[in-house]
Amino acid sequence: MEVAATVAEMRALRRAMAGDVGLVPTMGYLHEGHLSLVRTARRRDDHVVVSIFVNPTQFGPGEDFERYPRDPERDLALLRRERVDAVLLPSVEELYPEGDSTFVEVAGITEVLEGVHRPGHFRGVTTVVAKLFHIVQPRRAYFGRKDAQQLLVIRKLVRDLHFDVEVVAMPTVREPDGLAMSSRNAYLSPREREAALVLSRALRGAGELFAAGERDGERLRASMRDVIAQEPLAQVDYVSVADGETLRELDRLEGPALASLAVRIGAVRLIDNVTLE
Ligand code: PAF
Repeated sequence: MEVAATVAEMRALRRAMAGDVGLVPTMGYLHEGHLSLVRTARRRDDHVVVSIFVNPTQFGPGEDFERYPRDPERDLALLRRERVDAVLLPSVEELYPEGDSTFVEVAGITEVLEGVHRPGHFRGVTTVVAKLFHIVQPRRAYFGRKDAQQLLVIRKLVRDLHFDVEVVAMPTVREPDGLAMSSRNAYLSPREREAALVLSRALRGAGELFAAGERDGERLRASMRDVIAQEPLAQVDYVSVADGETLRELDRLEGPALASLAVRIGAVRLIDNVTLE
């Protein structure tokens, strides 16, 4: 496995790769969710490239950029075991050169949910993903469904800017008790870890109501808020039942819908979602 610290090194490695290249963009501190993306890329593509980059432009002021968990040595050991061909592990200065002032922004779908609570977040995501696509030139790029809005935003980016990249979405990987895997779970104390189960519990409750025939959007949202209200450590950022494509909040569910939420457990902000269909 080769490790590229610079754009030039990554480009040289890429030129030597024949056939399809699969890219798994990550911010490191890898867990089974990331590894499931890597394994799928390994099966589908001739070469697999993983990027590890904690992207400063997608963190707002007062967010956790500085303390975001990092362990590149452990990540590289995991990726070596998965027979990844190359890892792009650049510095901030390498991806955002001195004087850099170009951003990529997707309008509309970025202005709801995460976009309301994390202004500028998606501009940072789409800017770095566009850079990674240009540098790595993948045939496919793999993303987890836990970041459901990010997935829709990246699909729009690819479509609007004519990137020749197939976006592959993979299911959320969960701990045995239902907690969605996330690098941020590392922040949780044992008591917060227990409280964090309220996210999957609220979504499961909404899924059961939906399966029993409930189609009223507000009743489904209220059911999730009620579950979260029972957990003293939890504070809701948003609870949503929205159209699965446009993310417009639904009064009545007639097609596939996305139930999603963002909840603060103490100082740790977690997101999760399920599709209702
Ligand atoms: O989902 C993530 O880990 C990040 O948002 C991504 C796509 C790697 C961009 O920094």
